[in-house]
Amino acid sequence: MAEQHLTESSASDSGQVSESQIAVHWREEGYYFPSARFIGQANASDPGIFDRFSEERFPECFKEYADLLSWDAYWHTTLDTSNPPFWKWFVGGRLNASYNCVDRHLEHSRNKAAIIWVPEPEEESTQAITYQELYRRVNEFAAVLRDFCGLKTGDRVTFHMPMIPELPVAMLACARLGVIHSEVFGGFSGAACGDRIADSGSRILVTVDGYYRNGDLIDHKVKADEALEAAAKFGQEVDKVLVFKRHPGQYASQTPMVEGRDFFVDDIIGDYRNKIVEPISMPAEAPLFLMYTSGTTGRPKGCQHSTGGYLSYVTGTAKYYQDIHPEDTYWCAADIGWITGHSYIVYGPLSLGTTTVMYEGVPTYPDPGRPWRIAERLGVNIFHTAPTTIRMLRKLGPDEPAKYNYHFKHMTTVGEPIEPEVWRWYHEAVGKGEAVIVDTWWQTENGGFLGSTLPAVHPMKPGSCGPSVLGIFPVIYDEERKEVPAGSGRAGNICIRNPWPGIFQTIWGQPERFVQTYYEKYCADKDSKDWRDWPYLAGDGALQAADGYYRILGRIDDVINVAGHRLGTKELESAALTVNEISEAAAVPVIDELRGRAVEMYVSLKPGLSPSEDIQQKVVEAIDREIGKIARPKSVWIVADMPKTRSGKIMRRVIAGISNFADVGDVTTLANPEIVEDIRHYVQSEKVQRGEEPRPLTPEEEEEIKAFGKAE
Ligand code: PRX
Repeated sequence: MAEQHLTESSASDSGQVSESQIAVHWREEGYYFPSARFIGQANASDPGIFDRFSEERFPECFKEYADLLSWDAYWHTTLDTSNPPFWKWFVGGRLNASYNCVDRHLEHSRNKAAIIWVPEPEEESTQAITYQELYRRVNEFAAVLRDFCGLKTGDRVTFHMPMIPELPVAMLACARLGVIHSEVFGGFSGAACGDRIADSGSRILVTVDGYYRNGDLIDHKVKADEALEAAAKFGQEVDKVLVFKRHPGQYASQTPMVEGRDFFVDDIIGDYRNKIVEPISMPAEAPLFLMYTSGTTGRPKGCQHSTGGYLSYVTGTAKYYQDIHPEDTYWCAADIGWITGHSYIVYGPLSLGTTTVMYEGVPTYPDPGRPWRIAERLGVNIFHTAPTTIRMLRKLGPDEPAKYNYHFKHMTTVGEPIEPEVWRWYHEAVGKGEAVIVDTWWQTENGGFLGSTLPAVHPMKPGSCGPSVLGIFPVIYDEERKEVPAGSGRAGNICIRNPWPGIFQTIWGQPERFVQTYYEKYCADKDSKDWRDWPYLAGDGALQAADGYYRILGRIDDVINVAGHRLGTKELESAALTVNEISEAAAVPVIDELRGRAVEMYVSLKPGLSPSEDIQQKVVEAIDREIGKIARPKSVWIVADMPKTRSGKIMRRVIAGISNFADVGDVTTLANPEIVEDIRHYVQSEKVQRGEEPRPLTPEEEEEIKAFGKAE
């Protein structure tokens, strides 16, 4: 497997960069090596592992991951490709995910902490939930779901939960019953939650009255009422809303409980005290959960993940790539509302029987020393976060980590490309030069990592995620399906040639969209039952250096990656269009030093109306309401007209160029080229006045902006 090994030429490539490489991306960096101490204790330190996962051994190689689980019945077929691209893994096998994450650890680790929960207010004590206690809570809540809510195997249930321990408890309770959970990120608005309730056909919503964020106790129950209203508009009725209380005995919300519909879990759980719900033995192919993500069109995509394949994949990658041992204290500072949290806060670490830390709040609250105090106090030795958080912590408290006595052996970054400069601060300041770093590239659709160094074996290279992970065989194609070779310095569309156990099974309720979005572009033969004809299109631009390391450049579709969160332009635009005064809207990305990318909205008004701050404010509020504050635009520009093609299509690339002070390309073929200068003058002079003029873009950022809007 060539890409897993380093070639001699590349091992000395720091500083010696070809012209073509400079033309498309930042400088190739030199290698950093893992310490002997790390290698000595690592779960995978023998390069022989690459032979075990070689292409010749595919798909049987993934038995090694599946064997990390406890199965009720073994599978007879490792990979069934009879209905491409709806792959089936471990067919005939049966298991229960809740049993694997909880019950099986009781014998040896009954009173070891499974989850340590850290509330945001520092004066509140942490909660250590042992495997025994987790077992009790999961069983009791499973009994509530089954006996009080009437849920059964295959039903869907929506959670709209922040980072409180009741969330993993509820997930594992569903898994126990074979009920499919769909967790909606707590920061999303009620309306966004309502969309997802309707799309998944959930009759039950589980939520909490309030939670802490940046020092405030947020009223969260109010969003449940909005969510139900939104779901009802799509014809989806919700029978019951289960409300956990952030503080037992108190109610943190202003909204009343609705008689006969809303129930405090505290009031009903007493009837199920110490109740045992036997885990249901599920087929490996049964769906475990849905995780919604954004795409090119407005309707969110419910990525459906399987039980056996998914759990095998996250367990295997957590073991080898996160280097999790049962005795580690592992902290992934992501939110469980995203795939990272599902795979690498809940399912992977708990399946391995380790201690997983959950933090309720904002990493910089009340000051940027907070994460390091948590690490010191709990003895965290594996740390996992996103470039946005690293940038923020570096900006606000570059010298903070040195003040605390913690030692990480391993650190992860995920979600966006990380700049080499930021990577070095992570390595030197946060990791104290001792910790290995894995830069893990993957997506909601993938279940687990696709690209990363194997930490005890591969050296790290800042700015590159590394080679593909075990059993993953990528290819970079150009638009004509020609392979873009490693070391060519050229970028293309990265695809994965083979199926893997963590890949999602379909888009819930939209199988045609699943095939079309991920497989149609490079499918060699639609009648073929051979997986080799069905490469998976990841939707990212990427290039591969001569040493086999990949550098991910960003999305090739109309998705804006804000602080590692995917936002679809269409969702933003339809939110803006709910404002009465707006006739047209376009969302574009702007380079943002902290969040990677931020959103700017361009809107034009209905005839006879004049621009006002009031209208701009309404657009911001509409986006908060329809999607959530994470999507809040940096600016709303009201323009007389949008630059359009002769067929009336809005040219997002042109306005994206203006917002970023970049080249807008050829505008002579537009229907209204004269508008471009007016918009440029208005937007850029305003930005200069506000001191928001960006730094000059790197060539790769220029490329990204130029390509924006191409997916339409
Ligand atoms: O563009 C890639 C970027 O995030 C996208 C996936 O976003 P999401 O589904 O929300 O999942 C995020 C966490 C798994 C990808 O298509 N991305 C993710 N990880 C990296 C990355 N870009 C560069 N480097 C990464 N390590």
